[in-house]
Amino acid sequence: MPESKKNLNKSPDKISSMFDEIAPKYDFLNHFFTLNIDKIWRSRIRENLELFDFKKLIILDLAAGTGDLTKELMKLSPDMIYACDISDNMLEVLREKIKSNKLSTVNSPAEKLPFTDNAFDVVTVGFGVRNFYELEKALNEIYRVMNKNGILVILDFFKVNSVKAKIFNLYSGKVMPAVGNFLSKSKTKAYSYLNQSISDFLTVDEFITLAKKTGFTLLKSENNFLDVVNTIYLKK
Ligand SMILES: C[S@@+](CC[C@H](N)C(=O)[O-])C[C@H]1O[C@@H](n2cnc3c(N)ncnc32)[C@H](O)[C@@H]1O
Repeated sequence: MPESKKNLNKSPDKISSMFDEIAPKYDFLNHFFTLNIDKIWRSRIRENLELFDFKKLIILDLAAGTGDLTKELMKLSPDMIYACDISDNMLEVLREKIKSNKLSTVNSPAEKLPFTDNAFDVVTVGFGVRNFYELEKALNEIYRVMNKNGILVILDFFKVNSVKAKIFNLYSGKVMPAVGNFLSKSKTKAYSYLNQSISDFLTVDEFITLAKKTGFTLLKSENNFLDVVNTIYLKK
């Protein structure tokens, strides 16, 4: 069982400077490349979480970046929400976007979370797990900080081998790097990394197997787009 293919350099220094660099243009390019459909994927997560009856709601939005998912989760009226990321510039955009005394931002890697055991009722990771440098360690950390019966939601691009996905590969491998690197003026070629990180990542089934090995139970998995973009709901 591959933890991750380990071909790509995902060192925290490389990843944080790459996201620091593209932070000012990240939101614009995200919505541009997905024609705003990414907003629907995030609001679906909020709708699904509304179905649970949380007595209290402490949320960790991990790899929160510029906070698009954090902002959606604020609509659940959480008692507290922690937005955690390794890129200061991404978190700076988030703080500009969301003003609330229920929000706290934390610069920390997913692999070593500065939280006590059983602290969170919900943990979300939007387009983050693909970037983690030690995925198995991060999943163990997430499991540790979650309450018993807590919910983990993972939204990401997963590796797909089907013909359908080849169309997406063309888009993410040719169009997005050309346009994204140009518009963000990225010296680190951040938008070339996206495509590489998908082909270097796990399939949905491989990811679910790894999550189960950590101790999670699968609630459901939703295919958002061409089997490539999926939302996975897991329970501790
Ligand atoms: C593609 S952005 C996603 C941002 C946001 N969640 C969203 O839905 O748009 C990925 C974020 O993961 C963060 N990240 C990458 N590796 C990380 C790690 N090991 N620990 C914590 N954050 C990490 C990056 O700094 C970046 O802000």
